[in-house]
Amino acid sequence: MHEVTQLMLHNRAWAAEQLVEDPDFFSRHVADQKPVFLWIGCSDSRVAPDQFTQALPGGLFIHRNIANLVQPEDGNLMAVIDFAIGVLMIDRIVVCGHYGCGGIKAALAGTPTTGPLGEWLGHARDVYRDHEDEVNAQPDEDSRTNRLVECNVRDQLLHVAGTAPVKAAWAAGRDLQLHGWVYDIRDGLLKSLLDIDRNTVLAGVGAPQRVLV
Ligand code: CO
Repeated sequence: MHEVTQLMLHNRAWAAEQLVEDPDFFSRHVADQKPVFLWIGCSDSRVAPDQFTQALPGGLFIHRNIANLVQPEDGNLMAVIDFAIGVLMIDRIVVCGHYGCGGIKAALAGTPTTGPLGEWLGHARDVYRDHEDEVNAQPDEDSRTNRLVECNVRDQLLHVAGTAPVKAAWAAGRDLQLHGWVYDIRDGLLKSLLDIDRNTVLAGVGAPQRVLV
């Protein structure tokens, strides 16, 4: 119970602090939102995008799932992308993986394979299968995990590029840009892996450079 009380108390302190610094902080947000970024990241509790980018409320439109996977059959994320591009008119999409991702480790280990978690991780196991030689060439388990994290960001960013709202935005001439990043839990820094825009030849997007060394 203590943890619950603590969350509520911290929330009250936070709300009061915002008002001291900016009396219009909340009233400004009532009418609507105009975020600049759609952020697709991992659910991992250590990877908190608002905090490590110092984005204020209203800055990031966020979707998180285990291992930051982008699947056309995931109606939840497809609705998020549709809304972000079609209604919020967002022109910057980030797919962000992270060092030591537990979902990616599980995909590498090949378990679990059953139940909702095992089925979900099947999408990450697909990435492993497609990059198996390169991942297995890494010298130890941490390196294999982190190389798969990087390959996964690349594959998921290409999945974003293949969605109907993104293709429609590019066809309409919008300057929609996709960014593949990783967050390094060891130093708190974001590292860029690849960028895709409407001029990118998708079939020519190779494996990204290693940054999680
Ligand atoms: Co993760």
